[in-house]
Amino acid sequence: MKVVVLNGSPKGAIGVTHQYTAFLERVFPEHELVTIPVAQRIREISRDPAERRKVLEEVAAADGVLWAFPLYILLVSSQYKRFIELVLEEGRECFRGKAAAALSTSINFFDSNALTYVRGACEDLGMRFIDSYSARMYDLTQDGERRRLAAFGRAFFDAIRDDAQPMRLSAVLPREASPRYLPALPVRVHALEGKKAVIVTDQGDSTGNLAAMAQRLNECWGGEAEIISLHELDIKGGCQGCLRCGAESRCAWDGKDGFRAFYEGTLKPADILVFAGTVCARQLSWKWREFFDRSFFSTHTPSLTGKQIAFLVEGPLALLPELRETYEAWVEFQRSHLAAWVSDEAGTAEVLDRALDDLAGRLVRLSRAAYIRPRTFRGVAGMKVFRDDIWGGLRVVFRADHKAYRRLGVYDFPQRSLRRRVTTGLAWIATGLPLIRGRFPGMIRTRMADPVRRAAEQAVIMSDP
Ligand SMILES: Cc1cc2nc3c(=O)[nH]c(=O)nc-3n(C[C@H](O)[C@H](O)[C@H](O)COP(=O)(O)O)c2cc1C
Repeated sequence: MKVVVLNGSPKGAIGVTHQYTAFLERVFPEHELVTIPVAQRIREISRDPAERRKVLEEVAAADGVLWAFPLYILLVSSQYKRFIELVLEEGRECFRGKAAAALSTSINFFDSNALTYVRGACEDLGMRFIDSYSARMYDLTQDGERRRLAAFGRAFFDAIRDDAQPMRLSAVLPREASPRYLPALPVRVHALEGKKAVIVTDQGDSTGNLAAMAQRLNECWGGEAEIISLHELDIKGGCQGCLRCGAESRCAWDGKDGFRAFYEGTLKPADILVFAGTVCARQLSWKWREFFDRSFFSTHTPSLTGKQIAFLVEGPLALLPELRETYEAWVEFQRSHLAAWVSDEAGTAEVLDRALDDLAGRLVRLSRAAYIRPRTFRGVAGMKVFRDDIWGGLRVVFRADHKAYRRLGVYDFPQRSLRRRVTTGLAWIATGLPLIRGRFPGMIRTRMADPVRRAAEQAVIMSDP
């Protein structure tokens, strides 16, 4: 059987991901694996129709496709995202009906989200999505993991042979765009009260719904916000994954384009950030992905902390939970506050007008109150993954993160606290004693809430929230 491997790493064959598919190639010599480094070659593929045709012809001649990619900022790299957009635009015929599987390599930070995304893209292409596999970067060095990967490969080839028919799990997106948004209600103006607000957009044209939404929001602030288009910024290319940033947060692009100056000079000083994007290929555009990938010069350290953030979306946001997941997690990681999502699915122009008016006032009020919603599993668990990996070895490469984590108190390992270790140890011994063990469940039931009950009854707030 012939399987085309679409490699999603900007590093291509020298990357980690390629070693996983090269391993599968060695384990299954009876099958042909043809690897195409589509992310690494995205410039040629996007510019030259002949290059695109070559890729599509390989896919058309294959029995199956393996989407093999590294995680880049909770998703796929901007280069891979661009490739997915291109094939959804003009390559559907070659992919339709073929078996697909996805293999990611990562440190398990929102790998599940990226795999869900790629599955949805495959289903939009009409492919039969068989299974996905998340490898931790160095899994391949362990015998048990090599066996597991080989079993995944075997199951994929079996599914191709058996013409397996898996169920579609992602929502089918509407073909029609939302109706044209023409603001209908008078604008309610909210003073920015000295807060700096920046609206960043990937709008290609100034007549679409996204432009109208950004414009309306800015009018609610009396035109005081800055509106910046990603297309007009001097960004010469995507993240190459070179990791030059690891030591001192320097980017290989520094001095070569304007991204760093924009990030440091415009975004960091802002109090309110509004990110406006059009849904394409089930996510924000590759241009937005380029922005997020390039922000990796700060590696695993939050760099836009304490901001009020909102997203304006043109497209079927409500049908794309993985899109929301990507950015809700990203904002939690940044220790900022995602105040709201507003999309043009609102129904009528009046509803959207009111949503934008409300958003304008809400962002200012929340910024004044410096309100940051408590982190959820996304932010709490995600940070533990980074904490353990940076401390556990990655700090050799990511020296800047290690220094920042010490400064920010990210190394909050519970086992480090002597007091906690002693009290937990004593409690462990006590609750093991037969006399206490029998009464313990009852005690827990009535006493577990004691500390918070005392706080609720006695504690006061030192200042007005
Ligand atoms: C810019 C950048 C962003 C990354 N973002 C994530 C991420 O969000 N989650 C994760 O688990 N790993 C992330 N990683 C780690 C890579 O996914 C991992 O190292 C992968 O194995 C690299 O594969 P490659 O060498 O084939 O490019 C990121 C790495 C880079 C360079």
